[in-house]
Amino acid sequence: MMDWTTRECRYFHRQLTQQALLYTEMVTTGALLFGDVERHLRFDDAEHPLALQLGGSDPADLAKATKLAEQWGYDEVNLNCGCPSDRVQNGQFGACLMAQPELVRDCIKAMQDAVAIPVTVKHRIGIDDADRYEDMLNFVVTVAESGCDTFIVHARKAVLGGLSPKQNREVPPLKYEYVYRLKRELPQLNIIINGGIKTHQECELHLQHVDGVMLGREAYHNPWLMAEVDSRYFGQADPLQSRQDAVAKMLPFIDAELAAGQRLFYSTRHMMGLFQAQNGAKAFKRFLSENAWKADAGSQVLADAAALVGGPAR
Ligand SMILES: Cc1cc2nc3c(=O)[nH]c(=O)nc-3n(C[C@H](O)[C@H](O)[C@H](O)COP(=O)(O)O)c2cc1C
Repeated sequence: MMDWTTRECRYFHRQLTQQALLYTEMVTTGALLFGDVERHLRFDDAEHPLALQLGGSDPADLAKATKLAEQWGYDEVNLNCGCPSDRVQNGQFGACLMAQPELVRDCIKAMQDAVAIPVTVKHRIGIDDADRYEDMLNFVVTVAESGCDTFIVHARKAVLGGLSPKQNREVPPLKYEYVYRLKRELPQLNIIINGGIKTHQECELHLQHVDGVMLGREAYHNPWLMAEVDSRYFGQADPLQSRQDAVAKMLPFIDAELAAGQRLFYSTRHMMGLFQAQNGAKAFKRFLSENAWKADAGSQVLADAAALVGGPAR
């Protein structure tokens, strides 16, 4: 998620679950082929398994960017066919690509031919008036001709004129049934559902119909939700016992970041929701808001903020 799933955010989320696949922000092919590759692609080894999401629509450029991703050690590359922003539309990628399934198929084919890691697609259930189930089915069937077998479906359509990106995450209704039907009709594909999912109970219901669940905003705002992912879905021990453990895990990372010239706020801004619904959550957030942005703020600021939280450890 742009500006949210930065490498600092992903390092934090990785403390909460060792198993869930994490995604970068979308990076455009232009940024990689003509920009600062290290700035866009560097990540901590601890972040694995990690997917790089690309934005683009030129098969040759996407192939080059995918090759870079593999060289940098990413576990998967995902092509964005769901973002509705004007900037992305002007660049002829994101959600407007759903109108060009053959082009997406060719892009994915070129990307796959360049690497050994999986290449996946994230898309909507439709765009504008092309919002019948059959439109999405045609898109997926055509793209799957490339050999792509994993589709992450944001279960609401994108409206490309008139709605802001934020409205496009809220206004068009969620149609989970479209995603379930896609899995029923194309059972050989991995279908991952996304959009509006907030609880483990909801995840478990969706998993009766599809192969996986992707959480965006809820995972970001209420990250402790992820602390049960490993035991619930992967049969593994959860990595942390308490929210305070999560803070403790972040302190050495933050010290290293600060030593490298980064600001405390770059890490702590993703942790604001850690104590959601706990006694002292407001005091934690307020303390960080007031102190973490200061130029000389050290990791002690985070430790002091966490010390303001009482109540049950979990
Ligand atoms: C701030 C923000 C940035 C986002 N950036 C991206 C992005 O870069 N690529 C993408 O595929 N989706 C992006 N999304 C959409 C989410 O991945 C997700 O599809 C959407 O929020 C619906 O899922 P949710 O209800 O679980 O959040 C973004 C969402 C938000 C809130």
